Amino acid sequence: MNILVTGGAGYIGSHVVVELHEAGYNPIIVDNFSNSDKSVLKGLFEITGKEILLYEGDCRDQKFMESVFSSEDIHGVIHFAALKAVGESVQKPLEYYDNNVGSLILLLTLMKQYKIENLVFSSSCTVYGQPDSLPVTEEAPKKPAESPYGNTKQLCEEIIEDTFKSGQQIKAFALRYFNPIGAHHTGNIGELPLGIPNNLVPFITQTAAGLRDSIIIFGDDYDTPDGTCIRDYIHVMDLAKAHVRSLEVLNRMNQSHYDYINIGTGNGHSVLEVIQKFELANSASLNYNIGTRRVGDVEKVYASADKAKEVLGWQANRSLDESLRDAWNWQQKLRDSENA
Ligand code: NAD
Ligand code: UD1
Repeated sequence: MNILVTGGAGYIGSHVVVELHEAGYNPIIVDNFSNSDKSVLKGLFEITGKEILLYEGDCRDQKFMESVFSSEDIHGVIHFAALKAVGESVQKPLEYYDNNVGSLILLLTLMKQYKIENLVFSSSCTVYGQPDSLPVTEEAPKKPAESPYGNTKQLCEEIIEDTFKSGQQIKAFALRYFNPIGAHHTGNIGELPLGIPNNLVPFITQTAAGLRDSIIIFGDDYDTPDGTCIRDYIHVMDLAKAHVRSLEVLNRMNQSHYDYINIGTGNGHSVLEVIQKFELANSASLNYNIGTRRVGDVEKVYASADKAKEVLGWQANRSLDESLRDAWNWQQKLRDSENA
């Protein structure tokens, strides 16, 4: 079965491509490389032993996307392609709305035209803002978005729901990811931020690799046991598996369907804990300083993972230690290949 993976050259998409291949699907990537590098294709070949089919282009380009849909017999779509930098979205809201919302609308239109039913959409726990109670369940109300990026995820979920309600034959899950980290255990693919990383774990691995002097912890005066923010960090390969499970469940359904599901471990860890666990797991020592709070950060959030277990029969298996070891293995391999 051919599965179209938009944004398949990106961090999460590339790991899902591996998992799809292992489950017997034929992933087809669409990517414009606006936030990824073609070297990922080599990494994918090293892991899968297969040249993954790639269409290079923009998901908002109607002609290009029509050529993809008309050339391939597509059974389902996993839609990762989006811009994802929260701070940048505040500076460039129109680019974010255009890219993230525009690409989804075109995709849904083409899915209707080509009678493709199965869709897995990348949403985010950002839709909850700071939840009133934890672990956060899918029933928790969505809070007004803190950023245009967050708003695009809320809007996209609503667009899929409205499409479902309109009677279009569609079977879709919006997966609300918590904090994906780590890399494939081979270190052949991983997270490759362009420029200075925004996210914690790439910042940690780049600091350990000597690319950055030190990490700034964004605030230690939160109402948490050690004063630093708490998140639910999930290994990207566990996250990848949730996508394959989602497709399997959608495949078995014979009626239109839309639902949203948390994809997290159910456990919260503080920033300080992550740094300390990284140091222990990798026998490394990190320079860090306490800085001021980052605007828009929520104090603590972690998932209720019950619905994922119930609906998808999925749960995360890998520990935070394993995730941090894999993240470091990837960073070291990257450094070695750059020095070679
Ligand atoms: P990423 O930037 O690594 O991957 C996105 C890929 O999409 C990139 O390869 C980029 O080149 C491509 N792309 C972007 N716009 C495109 C377009 N218009 N046409 C074609 N290709 C395009 O990001 P990621 O971390 O892999 O995230 C994937 C998805 O998951 C995104 O939708 C993101 O919002 C969502 N998400 C990510 C996180 C996270 O922490 N990484 C958390 C929650 C949700
Ligand atoms: C961020 C986004 C979220 C998005 C996700 C994926 C914000 C407010 N949220 O999640 O919407 O879905 O990325 O792109 O940007 N931290 C430091 N120092 C650093 C980096 C991070 O202390 O140098 C802390 C943060 O304050 C936070 C934790 O580490 O408490 C995790 O941060 P990050 O990896 O950026 O993820 P989120 O903020 O949870």
